[in-house]
Amino acid sequence: GPGWIAPLVGRLSKLGPPGELAAALLTRVAGAGGPEIPQAVGSINAVVGQAFFVPLYDLFLTYGGIFRLNFGPKSFLIVSDPAIAKHILRENSKAYSKGILAEILEFVMGTGLIPADGEIWRVRRRAIVPALHQKYVTAMIGLFGEASQRLCEKLDKAAVDGEDMEMESLFSRLTLDVIGKAVFNYDFDSLSYDNGIVEAVYVTLREAEMRSTSPIPTWEIPIWKDISPRQKKVNEALKLINSTLDELIAICKRLVEQEDLQFHEEYMNEQDPSILHFLLASGDDVSSKQLRDDLMTMLIAGHETSAAVLTWTFYLLSKYPKVMAKLQDEADSVLGDGLPTIEDVKKLKYTTRVINESLRLYPQPPVLIRRSLEDDILGGYPIGRGEDIFISVWNLHHCPKHWDDAEVFNPERWPLDGPNPNEINQNFSYLPFGGGPRKCVGDMFATFETVVATAMLVKRFDFQMAPGAPPVDMTTGATIHTTEGLKMTVTRRTRPPVIPNLEMKIITDSQESTLS
Ligand code: HEM
Repeated sequence: GPGWIAPLVGRLSKLGPPGELAAALLTRVAGAGGPEIPQAVGSINAVVGQAFFVPLYDLFLTYGGIFRLNFGPKSFLIVSDPAIAKHILRENSKAYSKGILAEILEFVMGTGLIPADGEIWRVRRRAIVPALHQKYVTAMIGLFGEASQRLCEKLDKAAVDGEDMEMESLFSRLTLDVIGKAVFNYDFDSLSYDNGIVEAVYVTLREAEMRSTSPIPTWEIPIWKDISPRQKKVNEALKLINSTLDELIAICKRLVEQEDLQFHEEYMNEQDPSILHFLLASGDDVSSKQLRDDLMTMLIAGHETSAAVLTWTFYLLSKYPKVMAKLQDEADSVLGDGLPTIEDVKKLKYTTRVINESLRLYPQPPVLIRRSLEDDILGGYPIGRGEDIFISVWNLHHCPKHWDDAEVFNPERWPLDGPNPNEINQNFSYLPFGGGPRKCVGDMFATFETVVATAMLVKRFDFQMAPGAPPVDMTTGATIHTTEGLKMTVTRRTRPPVIPNLEMKIITDSQESTLS
């Protein structure tokens, strides 16, 4: 199809009152005396027919860290320069909104924390961030272990049956089970079986992806949107999710009323440590649409991203057996027979580097979207308000000038005893969780989740691309997906031989002294 940008173009033409557009045009004319942002020409064809961020990489190499991409009368600024990214995301973040992203996701996230801007965002960010405190994230490690254990059992069975597994959909189910419990104490149990609510979540997700990749926004056509079978299905799915949410909120409200825990900074109910429980205990309004919007937002934000990270990590591991061997060594030496603890996770340093490096090569999402709310200067070029901007995290993470062997999966590029790489210590050349005030609230959660799952899986199994597996190509929705799944042969590892420490058991103190 014409790709991801087409609907954005359509959407842009409908934005705001005409005056706003005129004002934006005037500002641009006023700035015409200054230096002009390089324009990518003849680029429309280049962007058609593949994951849209891939051709943006070649254009970056040709036109530099900021350039304009024209689509008929519309244009976008593509930013691939760390200093400009830092300016937009952190130094002058107040001058930018989520723009197109908020429009596409409105139907499912409403004014949830990801699309929200201005005062709504400020208030909700302040309510939600405290819910993901240290004690909560630590408690979640048990949950990550339990869910990963369930996946291990499923893989065990496949290994015995000699059946190849499509890992991308299994990772999607793993992270759905995790995020359901973590956000509203709901057990989707999607690794075990399909039920109506799991189906509804996937219908909604597919719709969100379709809307960000479809050339014509059919869902906005007045009559079509009511009679189209597809839209009907989406509306029914949303209805089911919302009524389930209402039920969970009501159950949680009763729990909060019954408990005599005092609300404090690291408040957590051991039986129900969910984010919903924290929010209700902190006085959030149960009846509000905002609470539902935020829950939906976190469900989607925490589900697709982590699943994509695991998918690409295991793909990379299949290509780099030496990294896999080292990873398995670490898992063997750190993990015991029980579920991982926070102490274990802290010792899984190489596993953490593997996740860091996987997020460099496959950032989720590959671009961040913004719109300028006022005039600004980017990389020395004046820009007007109303500019739609893509910050290409993909380009930042693949920049051949910044990274040695940028295309090589090399977890060793960050020393084990050094700090965890983040946007601050990498000066915005590495942005796995964004940066500035809108940085991901789930970064610790997601890192621990993917580290626990990866370590547990590689301890138990070897993973290879299945014979005859389809080629692994990229396509995009909000995150990077494979085009045809990640089909792998999973085999039980023969455990390293246990050398029983017989002496210790047989030899008594007195014998020991005679031996020495
Ligand atoms: C925002 C990445 C997991 C909740 C973001 C942003 C990125 C990101 C890049 C910034 C978006 C922007 O600036 O436009 C990731 C990745 C994850 C992950 C790669 C997994 C590996 C999670 C989880 C949760 C979560 C588990 C929830 C528990 C959010 C929220 C925001 C956000 C609520 C919006 C914050 C705001 O605008 O104030 N995430 N995320 N994310 N993420 Fe995550």
